[in-house]
Amino acid sequence: MYQATKHVLSTCEHLCALLPESEKTKPQVLLLAGGVVEFRNDTDREQAFRQESNFRYLTGCDVPSSYVLVGYQPGTSLERTPSVELFIPEPNIADMMWSVPPPSVAAAQETHDVTRVDHSAALPAAIDNLLKALPTALFHVLPRSSLFLPAVSEAFLAPILAHEGGAVTDFYLLSALHRARLIKDDHEVSLIRKACDISSRAHEVVMRVLGAAVKGGIVAGPGAGIDRPLLPSEWLIEREAEAEALFVASCRREGAVHQAYLPIVASSTRASTLHYCCNGGNDKEFAWGPVGPHDHENKNSLSSGRNLKPQVLLIDAGCEWTCHASDITRTMPVGNGGKFTPEAKAIYELVLEMQTACLEILKPGLHWDAAHLLSHRVLVRGLQRLGIFKSPNSPNSGSWASEEAILASGQSAAFYPHGLGHSLGMDVHDVPSASKPAANPTINKGVELGHASFYEHLRLRVKLEAGMVVTVEPGIYFSPHLLASVRESALIDHAVLKRYEAVGGVRIEDVVLITADGVENLTKVKSDVEWIEGVCSGAL
Ligand code: GLY
Ligand code: MN
Ligand code: MN
Repeated sequence: MYQATKHVLSTCEHLCALLPESEKTKPQVLLLAGGVVEFRNDTDREQAFRQESNFRYLTGCDVPSSYVLVGYQPGTSLERTPSVELFIPEPNIADMMWSVPPPSVAAAQETHDVTRVDHSAALPAAIDNLLKALPTALFHVLPRSSLFLPAVSEAFLAPILAHEGGAVTDFYLLSALHRARLIKDDHEVSLIRKACDISSRAHEVVMRVLGAAVKGGIVAGPGAGIDRPLLPSEWLIEREAEAEALFVASCRREGAVHQAYLPIVASSTRASTLHYCCNGGNDKEFAWGPVGPHDHENKNSLSSGRNLKPQVLLIDAGCEWTCHASDITRTMPVGNGGKFTPEAKAIYELVLEMQTACLEILKPGLHWDAAHLLSHRVLVRGLQRLGIFKSPNSPNSGSWASEEAILASGQSAAFYPHGLGHSLGMDVHDVPSASKPAANPTINKGVELGHASFYEHLRLRVKLEAGMVVTVEPGIYFSPHLLASVRESALIDHAVLKRYEAVGGVRIEDVVLITADGVENLTKVKSDVEWIEGVCSGAL
């Protein structure tokens, strides 16, 4: 059974730590609403339901339109054994006719780690009981102005506010939940591990289907003259949408209900768009003819020659497993017999070097800023080696600058604008207020800063702790929009840069658990060049 009580206790402890001294010893009550099923208009059909993360963390309950009421007080028996009351809707005949009804109270009691389960109609009486038993209690709800969090209706709050001394606050609960959710227990890690396993296999499936086509094992693309629908094993991947379909199909086949976010499937120079998925993303043919830098509108139709231009295919995709996310990026070669071009290979190996260097230093106590800065340092060193940033060995080395000076200039952010990674858990960009606190006295203590622009999009800015799960996802991009800021730079050899721009972008993203003395990589799909090229060329 999902160990919800452990999560309730951890949340209450963090909540009390956040409270002013005068409130800390008072009784605390948490009141949360779960998610509701949304309907699409004029279809009479539900949108896919996914429980709100905070509610699920405290209850393990996936029943829509539920509530939870928690009573806690330090220094009393409620400190060890908080009361956790779960309220689920009563099934009605329409539920039973059209869809899967909610479980009975007795069935839900068997499968949930809570003190008691009742129907939602019993919630007002339960609130009243708590008000009588704990008259000085402070009631906590999630932020009421959020568009993303289910609100507890006024009808439930009015009796609390009408009660003498009754108080409701939405100031502390979300921060406490985020802080509790930042550190994962073994069960949570096992769910993330499972999501990563399924997603790892899905990435490999796409690569193997690409490789099989290179070997001539799949030829039945459009126009192959087969007068029936193609079977999945016959899907020749020639479009981003086809790669996305295979990835999602592989995850769904293994039972994953949701993707943790819309997959990002970008071929050729479109890989330089970081979140290329909506409004026309994931929907282009691979490059068959010359593709202009950042050409989102590649209109080249499938040519009779069917010679794919050498290009990369970047897939950033991960499924959820019971409300726990994965987030994995692989960049693979398409065309060129399933091998990277020399330029793409050089950039790929540099991204891998950035990732490996960071993985080697991650451990509890290390501030994430330091790992992020290291990724920029390795990038600058590598781009100097390739001659993109000038070095003493450059043909026109007149205005070369040292690694430190380039870092201080901030110009590496034109190639790598995003953060090294983020916390991951029930949500992909998990627990933002605990990952990047507004006030964090430890930030930058003893950490060399580099340039302020490096930190603009960094989603994790704390010291690492054992039990955190984070992504490590460096990338190098050649985006005209980003490169505009360095087109006049004297630090860059623009003739060399031009040679690399057709690569578009490379990102490699793994999910890792911070352990007592380092990391455990939860991502199973490999990323070394030999394996990626071996699979994508059909040799392995
Ligand atoms: N998939 C979004 C990210 O990597 O952060
Ligand atoms: Mn990520
Ligand atoms: Mn990602």
